[in-house]
Amino acid sequence: VSPLRLGIAGLGTVGIGVVKIVQRHADLLAVRSGRPVVITAVSARDRTKNRDADLSGYAWETDPVVLAQRDDVDVFVELMGGHEGAAKNAMEAALKAGKDVVTANKALLAHHGQALAESAEALGRVIRFEAAVAGGIPVIKALTEGLAGNAIRRVMGVMNGTCNYILTRMESAGLPYETVFEEARALGYLEADPTLDVGGIDAGHKLAILAAIAFGTKVSFDAVQLEGIGKISIDDIRRADDMGYKIKLLGVAQITGRGLEQRMMPCLVPSSSPFGQLQGGTNMVLLEGDSIGQIVLRGAGAGEGPTASAVMGDVVDLARGLRMPTFGQPAATLADPVPAVASAP
Ligand code: NDP
Ligand code: HSE
Repeated sequence: VSPLRLGIAGLGTVGIGVVKIVQRHADLLAVRSGRPVVITAVSARDRTKNRDADLSGYAWETDPVVLAQRDDVDVFVELMGGHEGAAKNAMEAALKAGKDVVTANKALLAHHGQALAESAEALGRVIRFEAAVAGGIPVIKALTEGLAGNAIRRVMGVMNGTCNYILTRMESAGLPYETVFEEARALGYLEADPTLDVGGIDAGHKLAILAAIAFGTKVSFDAVQLEGIGKISIDDIRRADDMGYKIKLLGVAQITGRGLEQRMMPCLVPSSSPFGQLQGGTNMVLLEGDSIGQIVLRGAGAGEGPTASAVMGDVVDLARGLRMPTFGQPAATLADPVPAVASAP
């Protein structure tokens, strides 16, 4: 049986996590995929950087576009980040060169998902991106597969590990913002530009992607009402706690009488509620469907292992020959959303 050959662009937190899983679980992956899964080539900016994995068996490309076009790559795994430039160029090159793509890049999908999905489908290729939303939690599979028989009514959740980590560590350990921020960095949670995390933008990207899948609409990140956690002080957190509440960066997407409402902002939730009890980098997503009612998915929302786990789930699906359209239905069938002006939370 021919192996599935991966080309991995980006050897940071997530990329190295993927390399480690491919190396550690070669047998498991081969059995589950029905064929070996191997890495043939890798790419990052700095070849001399000391990385926490043995990369000696792989071809090196400094230019990810070249990696994306190599004949010995079947699946281009984009783990560089950024919604313009290298990631976008390389993904487009990969699709044109006949490669399927796996990515964790929510910023890219939130800004260019529609065009990329249309291009992939026109070329008969597949883009998978489970890792882009809620880290290790298989929320996209839940929406596109397990809940495919439901009309989705609501998607709600805590979707940024950094913010939840900062909010909960400041309270539980009484540590200043700067200290917990550096802890989050050491855990590999932060975006390359952490203002995306604390500004609520990263979580907004994720909500916009989930809303597109849930409601069959084009991704409309610009319509997400956004506010980050930058204005939340330790005093705010303590006052909320005194009243029996926690502050969470919570997102909601739902169809209302006025259209598609998408908001991501700090909210008060009861301390005893499942959202109130969410600690550290944990994420939680509530999905509500007309047949199933509500289900809740909870787990690690960021970091090397959890995010690489989600990437590998997509890789194994491709190795098995599963070829889901990007947003769970053909891109051409996604509707133009009517954005609602949401009421205050
Ligand atoms: P890192 O910053 O740790 O790693 C990025 C990697 O990409 C580095 O190896 C870097 O090279 C390489 N890179 C960046 N720009 C270029 C370029 N122009 N050409 C070639 N290589 C490049 O990021 P993460 O691993 O944390 O994140 C990767 C992606 O995964 C992002 O899209 C992020 O949003 C997403 N993600 C991250 C999660 C996390 O918990 N960290 C969770 C879910 C998604 P070099 O090492 O040489 O600098
Ligand atoms: N920076 C992101 C977070 C990574 O903290 O949730 C996971 O998407």
